[in-house]
Amino acid sequence: MADPTASLGDAYQAAPDRYATMQYRRTGKSGLLLPALSLGFWHNFGAEVPLDRQRAIVRRAFDLGITHLDLANNYGPPPGSAEENVARILELDLRLHRDEIIISTKAGYGMWPGPYGDFGSRKYMLASLDQSLKRLGLDYVDIFYSHRPDPATPIEETMGALDTAVRQGKALYAGISNYGPVEAKHAIDVLRGLGTPVLIHQPSYSMLNRWIEGRLLDVLGTEGVGCIVFSPLAQGQLTDRYLNGIPAGSRVTHSGFLTEDTVAQNLPRIRALNEIAARRGQTLAQMALAWAIRDQRVTSAVIGASSVQQLEDNVKALGGAAFGPDELAEIDAALA
Ligand SMILES: NC(=O)c1ccc[n+]([C@@H]2O[C@H](COP(=O)([O-])OP(=O)(O)OC[C@H]3O[C@@H](n4cnc5c(N)ncnc54)[C@H](OP(=O)(O)O)[C@@H]3O)[C@@H](O)[C@H]2O)c1
Repeated sequence: MADPTASLGDAYQAAPDRYATMQYRRTGKSGLLLPALSLGFWHNFGAEVPLDRQRAIVRRAFDLGITHLDLANNYGPPPGSAEENVARILELDLRLHRDEIIISTKAGYGMWPGPYGDFGSRKYMLASLDQSLKRLGLDYVDIFYSHRPDPATPIEETMGALDTAVRQGKALYAGISNYGPVEAKHAIDVLRGLGTPVLIHQPSYSMLNRWIEGRLLDVLGTEGVGCIVFSPLAQGQLTDRYLNGIPAGSRVTHSGFLTEDTVAQNLPRIRALNEIAARRGQTLAQMALAWAIRDQRVTSAVIGASSVQQLEDNVKALGGAAFGPDELAEIDAALA
């Protein structure tokens, strides 16, 4: 259990040069800039992770110019605990900086028992946002997402709930996540009709998962909607984490979302990519992140980090050289 009274010692003073090197990109055609790398709270910020480690990662992220914290109602484990820990970190370290930070949350996956604790009904979406605000200790979040499309609920109802959240002042912007191109276009049209444009879409995307290339990115680009890609490191596979076996404490060992079999299956491609990265003078993580945000329609990549060291390694992705056509072809060949 994270100790809510845990202390890193000295009071945190944000680095004066925190905006010196981070790249900020416009989110679609909106007025909002997001850092090219955002910090995600799906893993690494649950109740079992020492609060000091969590605080150290968030402090370092903020000092490196990462102004966007990506949450959801169900992040933990247990569900809700990541929001509670962020409330503690905001209170302990970032109290003076709320207006410098974008905090996102989502609703769409199972959160409480019964027919009103899952998917996309108005009843669930708005109740979940109220619960998230309570856990976060905030009056509003910056972005509220529909976490996934609900095939059984009219899209007008789910988007209507996002519009209400914005009109109530409980969210500044509306987002969608995991929507395919047709559903995304429908959601964008409905919300535009209501006068609350979709700010951003959050799909999965990495070298090992390229489904957004083509139709989805075309829809978002044409409609002026931003795109923030999640799991750009394929949950750690596109790093040196698994090159020499399965380390103790790695995601494979404690999350049902990444298995040893998947890692073993991808290993030949990962080794080939690692060699390309070394020739570019980058770690594999840095190359994978630079690759994930190479298209300007991608506003940001939301990364996970279980240590300050990983975070620092990842942020260096932004200093690398642009990809030449030969390198992109070589990467495609390694992935084939
Ligand atoms: N909208 C959605 O449906 C959805 C779904 C999934 C995720 N997300 C968002 O996306 C965020 C990121 O997802 P993710 O955690 O899967 O992203 P990821 O960046 O692909 O993977 C993060 C994991 O990779 C490993 N890692 C990171 N940097 C490393 C480095 N430099 N060297 C070695 N290993 C490194 C760490 O694994 P270890 O823990 O093994 O150290 C870390 O926990 C989530 O926190 C969440 O905010 C959204």
